Amino acid sequence: MAEISTIGMDRTRGGYSRHLFDSAERELREWFTTAAEGVGLDVDVDRNGNLWAWWGTPADGAVVTGSHVDSVPGGGAFDGPLGVASALVAVARLRREGFQPRRPIAVVVFAEEEGGRFGVPCLGSRLLTGAIPPERALRLTDGDGTTLADAATKAGFDPAHFGQDDAALARIGTFVELHVEQGRGLIDAGSPVAVGTGIDPHGRWRFSFTGRGDHAGTAAVADRNDPMIPASRTVLAARAAAGHGPRDTRATVGRLVPVPGGTNVIPMRVDLWLDSRATATDATREAVAAITEAARAAAHDEGCQVEVTEESWSGPVSFDPHLRDRLLATLREPPLLPTGAGHDAGVLAAHVPTGMLYVRNPTGISHSPAEHAENDDCEAGVEALADVLRELAA
Ligand code: GLV
Ligand code: MN
Ligand code: MN
Repeated sequence: MAEISTIGMDRTRGGYSRHLFDSAERELREWFTTAAEGVGLDVDVDRNGNLWAWWGTPADGAVVTGSHVDSVPGGGAFDGPLGVASALVAVARLRREGFQPRRPIAVVVFAEEEGGRFGVPCLGSRLLTGAIPPERALRLTDGDGTTLADAATKAGFDPAHFGQDDAALARIGTFVELHVEQGRGLIDAGSPVAVGTGIDPHGRWRFSFTGRGDHAGTAAVADRNDPMIPASRTVLAARAAAGHGPRDTRATVGRLVPVPGGTNVIPMRVDLWLDSRATATDATREAVAAITEAARAAAHDEGCQVEVTEESWSGPVSFDPHLRDRLLATLREPPLLPTGAGHDAGVLAAHVPTGMLYVRNPTGISHSPAEHAENDDCEAGVEALADVLRELAA
Protein backbone atom coordinates (compact mmCIF):
# COMPACT_ATOMS: atom_id res chain seq x y z
CA MET A 1 0.00 0.00 0.00
CA ALA A 2 2.94 2.33 0.71
CA GLU A 3 4.33 1.62 -2.77
CA ILE A 4 1.20 3.03 -4.41
CA SER A 5 0.40 5.78 -1.93
CA THR A 6 1.21 8.62 -4.33
CA ILE A 7 -0.26 7.13 -7.52
CA GLY A 8 -3.39 8.95 -8.62
CA MET A 9 -3.51 11.38 -5.68
CA ASP A 10 -6.15 13.98 -6.46
CA ARG A 11 -4.86 17.39 -5.43
CA THR A 12 -8.17 19.09 -6.20
CA ARG A 13 -10.62 16.74 -4.52
CA GLY A 14 -8.30 15.11 -2.00
CA GLY A 15 -7.91 11.34 -1.88
CA TYR A 16 -7.36 9.38 -5.08
CA SER A 17 -8.85 9.51 -8.56
CA ARG A 18 -7.84 6.40 -10.46
CA HIS A 19 -9.99 5.69 -13.46
CA LEU A 20 -9.91 2.92 -16.04
CA PHE A 21 -7.01 3.34 -18.46
CA ASP A 22 -6.01 6.79 -17.19
CA SER A 23 -2.35 7.33 -16.35
CA ALA A 24 -2.78 6.49 -12.64
CA GLU A 25 -4.69 3.31 -13.34
CA ARG A 26 -2.14 2.21 -15.94
CA GLU A 27 0.64 2.90 -13.45
CA LEU A 28 -1.18 0.72 -10.91
CA ARG A 29 -1.43 -2.05 -13.50
CA GLU A 30 2.35 -1.83 -13.95
CA TRP A 31 2.86 -1.83 -10.18
CA PHE A 32 0.65 -4.94 -9.87
CA THR A 33 2.51 -6.73 -12.65
CA THR A 34 5.92 -5.98 -11.14
CA ALA A 35 4.80 -6.82 -7.59
CA ALA A 36 3.15 -10.09 -8.64
CA GLU A 37 6.16 -11.12 -10.71
CA GLY A 38 8.33 -10.25 -7.72
CA VAL A 39 6.36 -12.80 -5.72
CA GLY A 40 6.94 -15.37 -8.48
CA LEU A 41 3.53 -15.20 -10.17
CA ASP A 42 2.87 -15.18 -13.93
CA VAL A 43 0.80 -12.19 -15.00
CA ASP A 44 -1.52 -11.97 -17.96
CA VAL A 45 -4.48 -9.90 -19.00
CA ASP A 46 -7.81 -11.26 -20.21
CA ARG A 47 -9.99 -10.15 -23.12
CA ASN A 48 -11.78 -7.55 -20.99
CA GLY A 49 -8.77 -5.85 -19.45
CA ASN A 50 -8.80 -7.74 -16.13
CA LEU A 51 -5.33 -8.64 -14.83
CA TRP A 52 -4.50 -12.13 -13.54
CA ALA A 53 -1.43 -13.28 -11.59
CA TRP A 54 -1.06 -17.06 -11.41
CA TRP A 55 0.62 -19.36 -8.91
CA GLY A 56 0.71 -22.58 -10.90
CA THR A 57 -0.42 -23.23 -14.45
CA PRO A 58 -3.78 -21.54 -15.13
CA ALA A 59 -6.42 -24.25 -15.03
CA ASP A 60 -10.13 -24.68 -14.40
CA GLY A 61 -11.28 -24.57 -10.79
CA ALA A 62 -8.58 -22.28 -9.38
CA VAL A 63 -8.84 -20.49 -6.04
CA VAL A 64 -9.08 -16.81 -6.94
CA THR A 65 -8.76 -13.74 -4.78
CA GLY A 66 -8.26 -10.05 -5.57
CA SER A 67 -10.26 -6.88 -6.01
CA HIS A 68 -9.77 -3.68 -8.03
CA VAL A 69 -7.39 -0.72 -8.24
CA ASP A 70 -9.69 1.94 -9.73
CA SER A 71 -11.40 4.43 -7.42
CA VAL A 72 -14.34 6.76 -7.21
CA PRO A 73 -13.43 10.43 -7.83
CA GLY A 74 -11.56 11.54 -4.71
CA GLY A 75 -11.81 8.11 -3.11
CA GLY A 76 -9.95 6.53 -0.22
CA ALA A 77 -6.71 4.58 -0.37
CA PHE A 78 -8.14 1.20 0.65
CA ASP A 79 -11.31 0.56 -1.40
CA GLY A 80 -9.98 -1.96 -3.92
CA PRO A 81 -6.19 -1.80 -3.47
CA LEU A 82 -6.36 -3.33 0.03
CA GLY A 83 -7.80 -6.54 -1.44
CA VAL A 84 -5.17 -6.63 -4.19
CA ALA A 85 -2.19 -5.85 -1.94
CA SER A 86 -3.41 -8.24 0.79
CA ALA A 87 -3.75 -11.00 -1.80
CA LEU A 88 -0.16 -10.50 -2.99
CA VAL A 89 1.19 -10.44 0.57
CA ALA A 90 -0.83 -13.53 1.55
CA VAL A 91 0.40 -15.44 -1.50
CA ALA A 92 4.00 -14.37 -0.84
CA ARG A 93 3.70 -15.73 2.72
CA LEU A 94 2.26 -19.05 1.59
CA ARG A 95 5.08 -19.44 -0.91
CA ARG A 96 7.70 -18.57 1.69
CA GLU A 97 6.35 -21.12 4.14
CA GLY A 98 6.54 -23.81 1.45
CA PHE A 99 2.80 -24.36 1.04
CA GLN A 100 2.07 -26.54 -2.02
CA PRO A 101 -1.37 -25.66 -3.42
CA ARG A 102 -3.27 -28.56 -4.98
CA ARG A 103 -5.30 -26.13 -7.04
CA PRO A 104 -3.79 -23.13 -8.84
CA ILE A 105 -4.19 -19.81 -7.02
CA ALA A 106 -4.77 -16.56 -8.89
CA VAL A 107 -4.86 -12.91 -7.88
CA VAL A 108 -7.17 -10.84 -10.05
CA VAL A 109 -7.53 -7.10 -10.60
CA PHE A 110 -10.97 -6.41 -12.05
CA ALA A 111 -11.31 -3.42 -14.38
CA GLU A 112 -13.59 -0.42 -13.67
CA GLU A 113 -15.17 -1.76 -10.47
CA GLU A 114 -16.44 1.66 -9.45
CA GLY A 115 -17.83 2.62 -12.84
CA GLY A 116 -16.02 5.89 -12.15
CA ARG A 117 -15.17 6.50 -15.79
CA PHE A 118 -17.86 4.75 -17.86
CA GLY A 119 -20.74 4.72 -15.35
CA VAL A 120 -21.41 0.99 -15.02
CA PRO A 121 -19.87 -0.58 -11.89
CA CYS A 122 -18.06 -3.93 -12.01
CA LEU A 123 -17.65 -3.55 -15.75
CA GLY A 124 -14.72 -6.01 -15.99
CA SER A 125 -16.51 -8.80 -14.12
CA ARG A 126 -19.82 -8.07 -15.86
CA LEU A 127 -18.15 -8.36 -19.26
CA LEU A 128 -16.33 -11.55 -18.27
CA THR A 129 -19.51 -13.24 -17.02
CA GLY A 130 -21.69 -11.96 -19.87
CA ALA A 131 -23.77 -9.78 -17.52
CA ILE A 132 -23.39 -6.86 -19.94
CA PRO A 133 -23.31 -7.30 -23.72
CA PRO A 134 -20.01 -6.03 -25.17
CA GLU A 135 -21.90 -3.95 -27.77
CA ARG A 136 -23.49 -1.96 -24.96
CA ALA A 137 -20.31 -1.71 -22.88
CA LEU A 138 -18.16 -0.53 -25.78
CA ARG A 139 -20.61 2.29 -26.54
CA LEU A 140 -20.48 3.65 -22.96
CA THR A 141 -18.90 7.10 -22.84
CA ASP A 142 -16.89 8.92 -20.18
CA GLY A 143 -17.37 12.56 -19.17
CA ASP A 144 -15.43 13.73 -22.24
CA GLY A 145 -17.49 11.66 -24.68
CA THR A 146 -14.75 9.05 -25.24
CA THR A 147 -16.20 5.58 -25.76
CA LEU A 148 -14.93 2.51 -23.93
CA ALA A 149 -14.06 1.12 -27.37
CA ASP A 150 -11.77 4.09 -28.08
CA ALA A 151 -10.25 4.14 -24.58
CA ALA A 152 -9.56 0.40 -24.75
CA THR A 153 -7.96 0.71 -28.18
CA LYS A 154 -5.77 3.56 -26.95
CA ALA A 155 -4.70 1.42 -23.98
CA GLY A 156 -3.66 -1.36 -26.36
CA PHE A 157 -6.70 -3.64 -26.12
CA ASP A 158 -8.74 -4.97 -29.02
CA PRO A 159 -12.40 -4.07 -28.39
CA ALA A 160 -13.44 -6.86 -30.78
CA HIS A 161 -12.26 -9.30 -28.11
CA PHE A 162 -14.38 -7.79 -25.33
CA GLY A 163 -17.27 -9.88 -24.04
CA GLN A 164 -18.22 -13.06 -22.24
CA ASP A 165 -15.12 -15.11 -21.46
CA ASP A 166 -16.22 -18.64 -20.59
CA ALA A 167 -12.64 -19.89 -20.40
CA ALA A 168 -11.69 -17.25 -17.82
CA LEU A 169 -14.88 -17.96 -15.86
CA ALA A 170 -14.24 -21.71 -15.85
CA ARG A 171 -10.84 -21.08 -14.32
CA ILE A 172 -12.50 -19.51 -11.26
CA GLY A 173 -13.39 -22.41 -8.96
CA THR A 174 -13.86 -20.24 -5.87
CA PHE A 175 -13.60 -16.49 -5.43
CA VAL A 176 -12.87 -14.73 -2.15
CA GLU A 177 -12.52 -10.93 -2.17
CA LEU A 178 -10.98 -9.09 0.76
CA HIS A 179 -12.21 -5.50 1.08
CA VAL A 180 -12.00 -2.63 3.52
CA GLU A 181 -15.27 -2.33 5.47
CA GLN A 182 -17.20 0.63 4.17
CA GLY A 183 -19.43 1.34 7.14
CA ARG A 184 -19.44 0.97 10.92
CA GLY A 185 -20.11 -2.77 10.95
CA LEU A 186 -16.73 -3.83 12.33
CA ILE A 187 -16.41 -0.88 14.71
CA ASP A 188 -19.67 -1.96 16.29
CA ALA A 189 -18.66 -5.63 16.27
CA GLY A 190 -15.27 -4.86 17.85
CA SER A 191 -13.44 -7.17 15.46
CA PRO A 192 -10.70 -6.55 12.86
CA VAL A 193 -12.15 -8.97 10.31
CA ALA A 194 -15.60 -10.16 9.25
CA VAL A 195 -17.02 -12.63 6.75
CA GLY A 196 -19.58 -11.25 4.26
CA THR A 197 -23.13 -12.57 4.06
CA GLY A 198 -24.33 -10.78 0.94
CA ILE A 199 -24.87 -7.50 -0.89
CA ASP A 200 -27.96 -5.31 -0.98
CA PRO A 201 -29.62 -4.79 -4.38
CA HIS A 202 -28.65 -1.49 -5.95
CA GLY A 203 -28.68 0.43 -9.19
CA ARG A 204 -27.98 3.67 -11.00
CA TRP A 205 -30.44 5.80 -12.94
CA ARG A 206 -29.75 8.83 -15.12
CA PHE A 207 -32.33 11.63 -15.11
CA SER A 208 -31.91 14.03 -18.05
CA PHE A 209 -33.96 17.19 -17.68
CA THR A 210 -34.22 19.44 -20.72
CA GLY A 211 -35.56 22.98 -20.81
CA ARG A 212 -34.54 26.24 -22.48
CA GLY A 213 -31.16 27.78 -22.02
CA ASP A 214 -31.24 31.54 -21.53
CA HIS A 215 -29.70 34.60 -19.89
CA ALA A 216 -29.68 34.75 -16.08
CA GLY A 217 -30.22 38.51 -16.12
CA THR A 218 -32.77 39.04 -18.87
CA ALA A 219 -35.11 36.04 -18.81
CA ALA A 220 -38.06 36.74 -16.50
CA VAL A 221 -38.60 33.95 -13.99
CA ALA A 222 -42.19 33.54 -15.24
CA ASP A 223 -40.86 32.79 -18.73
CA ARG A 224 -38.24 30.24 -17.75
CA ASN A 225 -38.10 26.53 -18.40
CA ASP A 226 -35.15 25.93 -16.12
CA PRO A 227 -34.22 22.24 -15.83
CA MET A 228 -32.30 22.96 -12.63
CA ILE A 229 -35.62 23.41 -10.83
CA PRO A 230 -37.00 19.87 -11.42
CA ALA A 231 -33.48 18.48 -10.94
CA SER A 232 -33.30 20.12 -7.51
CA ARG A 233 -36.76 18.85 -6.57
CA THR A 234 -35.61 15.37 -7.60
CA VAL A 235 -32.69 15.57 -5.17
CA LEU A 236 -35.17 16.35 -2.39
CA ALA A 237 -37.49 13.58 -3.57
CA ALA A 238 -34.58 11.14 -3.24
CA ARG A 239 -34.04 12.19 0.36
CA ALA A 240 -37.79 11.90 1.03
CA ALA A 241 -37.89 8.36 -0.40
CA ALA A 242 -34.99 7.19 1.79
CA GLY A 243 -35.13 5.91 5.34
CA HIS A 244 -32.84 6.95 8.17
CA GLY A 245 -30.98 3.84 9.37
CA PRO A 246 -27.93 2.33 7.64
CA ARG A 247 -29.94 -0.64 6.31
CA ASP A 248 -33.03 1.38 5.40
CA THR A 249 -33.70 2.46 1.85
CA ARG A 250 -30.89 4.67 0.54
CA ALA A 251 -31.26 7.16 -2.33
CA THR A 252 -28.38 9.41 -3.30
CA VAL A 253 -27.64 12.04 -5.91
CA GLY A 254 -23.85 12.40 -5.98
CA ARG A 255 -23.47 13.76 -9.46
CA LEU A 256 -25.37 16.53 -11.19
CA VAL A 257 -24.21 18.21 -14.39
CA PRO A 258 -25.80 21.39 -15.76
CA VAL A 259 -25.21 22.01 -19.46
CA PRO A 260 -23.52 24.25 -20.46
CA GLY A 261 -22.70 25.11 -16.82
CA GLY A 262 -22.18 28.86 -16.45
CA THR A 263 -22.93 31.01 -13.41
CA ASN A 264 -24.92 33.48 -15.50
CA VAL A 265 -26.53 30.88 -17.76
CA ILE A 266 -29.87 29.15 -17.28
CA PRO A 267 -29.00 25.59 -18.24
CA MET A 268 -30.58 24.00 -21.30
CA ARG A 269 -30.13 20.58 -19.74
CA VAL A 270 -29.33 19.05 -16.37
CA ASP A 271 -28.24 15.43 -16.02
CA LEU A 272 -28.29 13.84 -12.60
CA TRP A 273 -27.54 10.34 -11.45
CA LEU A 274 -29.52 8.56 -8.75
CA ASP A 275 -27.98 5.69 -6.78
CA SER A 276 -30.64 3.70 -4.95
CA ARG A 277 -30.25 0.72 -2.61
CA ALA A 278 -32.28 -1.17 -0.03
CA THR A 279 -32.25 -4.58 1.60
CA ALA A 280 -34.82 -5.85 -0.91
CA THR A 281 -35.39 -5.36 -4.62
CA ASP A 282 -39.00 -4.20 -4.15
CA ALA A 283 -38.04 -1.44 -1.72
CA THR A 284 -35.23 -0.28 -4.02
CA ARG A 285 -37.50 -0.15 -7.04
CA GLU A 286 -40.35 1.47 -5.09
CA ALA A 287 -38.02 4.30 -4.08
CA VAL A 288 -36.92 4.78 -7.70
CA ALA A 289 -40.56 4.77 -8.85
CA ALA A 290 -41.49 7.44 -6.27
CA ILE A 291 -38.50 9.60 -7.21
CA THR A 292 -39.27 9.19 -10.93
CA GLU A 293 -42.88 10.28 -10.36
CA ALA A 294 -41.69 13.33 -8.44
CA ALA A 295 -39.19 14.14 -11.21
CA ARG A 296 -41.88 13.93 -13.91
CA ALA A 297 -44.27 16.15 -11.95
CA ALA A 298 -41.50 18.68 -11.26
CA ALA A 299 -40.45 18.72 -14.93
CA HIS A 300 -44.07 19.26 -15.98
CA ASP A 301 -44.50 22.16 -13.52
CA GLU A 302 -41.48 23.93 -15.02
CA GLY A 303 -42.36 23.23 -18.67
CA CYS A 304 -39.37 20.90 -18.99
CA GLN A 305 -38.95 17.31 -20.17
CA VAL A 306 -37.28 14.46 -18.34
CA GLU A 307 -35.90 11.19 -19.62
CA VAL A 308 -35.04 8.43 -17.12
CA THR A 309 -32.59 5.66 -18.02
CA GLU A 310 -31.54 2.69 -15.90
CA GLU A 311 -27.77 2.55 -16.37
CA SER A 312 -27.08 -0.43 -14.13
CA TRP A 313 -28.82 -2.87 -11.86
CA SER A 314 -27.27 -5.28 -9.37
CA GLY A 315 -29.73 -7.71 -7.82
CA PRO A 316 -29.50 -8.95 -4.21
CA VAL A 317 -26.61 -11.30 -3.49
CA SER A 318 -26.33 -14.04 -0.87
CA PHE A 319 -22.85 -15.51 -0.76
CA ASP A 320 -22.49 -19.29 -1.03
CA PRO A 321 -23.54 -20.65 2.41
CA HIS A 322 -21.20 -23.63 2.28
CA LEU A 323 -18.18 -21.43 1.50
CA ARG A 324 -19.31 -18.93 4.15
CA ASP A 325 -19.39 -21.68 6.78
CA ARG A 326 -15.93 -22.82 5.70
CA LEU A 327 -14.58 -19.28 6.01
CA LEU A 328 -16.18 -18.92 9.44
CA ALA A 329 -14.71 -22.19 10.69
CA THR A 330 -11.27 -21.45 9.22
CA LEU A 331 -11.18 -18.02 10.84
CA ARG A 332 -12.59 -19.19 14.21
CA GLU A 333 -15.99 -17.55 13.90
CA PRO A 334 -15.46 -13.86 13.15
CA PRO A 335 -18.61 -11.72 12.88
CA LEU A 336 -20.83 -11.94 9.81
CA LEU A 337 -21.53 -8.74 7.94
CA PRO A 338 -24.04 -7.77 5.25
CA THR A 339 -23.17 -4.76 3.08
CA GLY A 340 -24.75 -2.02 1.04
CA ALA A 341 -21.60 -1.68 -1.07
CA GLY A 342 -21.25 -3.37 -4.44
CA HIS A 343 -18.32 -5.63 -5.37
CA ASP A 344 -17.10 -7.84 -8.22
CA ALA A 345 -17.73 -10.69 -5.76
CA GLY A 346 -21.43 -9.88 -6.17
CA VAL A 347 -21.24 -10.36 -9.93
CA LEU A 348 -19.26 -13.60 -9.65
CA ALA A 349 -21.59 -15.00 -6.97
CA ALA A 350 -24.17 -15.79 -9.67
CA HIS A 351 -21.66 -18.20 -11.27
CA VAL A 352 -19.21 -19.63 -8.74
CA PRO A 353 -18.97 -20.13 -4.96
CA THR A 354 -18.01 -16.67 -3.74
CA GLY A 355 -17.28 -15.10 -0.39
CA MET A 356 -15.90 -11.91 1.11
CA LEU A 357 -13.71 -10.84 4.00
CA TYR A 358 -13.90 -7.31 5.42
CA VAL A 359 -11.21 -5.42 7.30
CA ARG A 360 -12.28 -2.89 9.94
CA ASN A 361 -12.43 0.77 8.94
CA PRO A 362 -12.10 2.87 12.11
CA THR A 363 -13.75 5.92 10.56
CA GLY A 364 -16.72 3.98 9.21
CA ILE A 365 -16.44 6.26 6.16
CA SER A 366 -15.69 5.21 2.60
CA HIS A 367 -15.73 6.69 -0.93
CA SER A 368 -13.93 9.55 0.79
CA PRO A 369 -10.34 10.38 1.74
CA ALA A 370 -11.44 9.72 5.36
CA GLU A 371 -11.60 5.96 4.69
CA HIS A 372 -8.96 4.20 6.76
CA ALA A 373 -7.61 0.87 8.02
CA GLU A 374 -5.03 0.46 10.78
CA ASN A 375 -1.87 -1.54 10.04
CA ASP A 376 -2.71 -4.15 12.68
CA ASP A 377 -6.13 -4.72 11.14
CA CYS A 378 -4.64 -4.96 7.63
CA GLU A 379 -2.24 -7.54 9.04
CA ALA A 380 -5.18 -9.46 10.52
CA GLY A 381 -6.81 -9.32 7.09
CA VAL A 382 -3.72 -10.75 5.38
CA GLU A 383 -3.50 -13.52 7.97
CA ALA A 384 -7.17 -14.34 7.48
CA LEU A 385 -6.81 -14.39 3.71
CA ALA A 386 -3.69 -16.59 3.91
CA ASP A 387 -5.59 -19.01 6.18
CA VAL A 388 -8.48 -19.09 3.72
CA LEU A 389 -6.24 -19.68 0.69
CA ARG A 390 -4.41 -22.45 2.58
CA GLU A 391 -7.74 -24.05 3.43
CA LEU A 392 -9.29 -23.74 -0.04
CA ALA A 393 -6.25 -24.72 -2.13
CA ALA A 394 -5.12 -27.66 0.01
C1 GLV B 1 -19.00 0.40 -5.00
O1 GLV B 1 -18.19 0.70 -4.12
C2 GLV B 1 -20.37 0.75 -4.78
O2 GLV B 1 -21.03 0.11 -3.97
O3 GLV B 1 -20.82 1.73 -5.37
MN1 MN C 1 -16.09 1.51 -3.89
MN1 MN D 1 -14.38 -1.64 -3.85
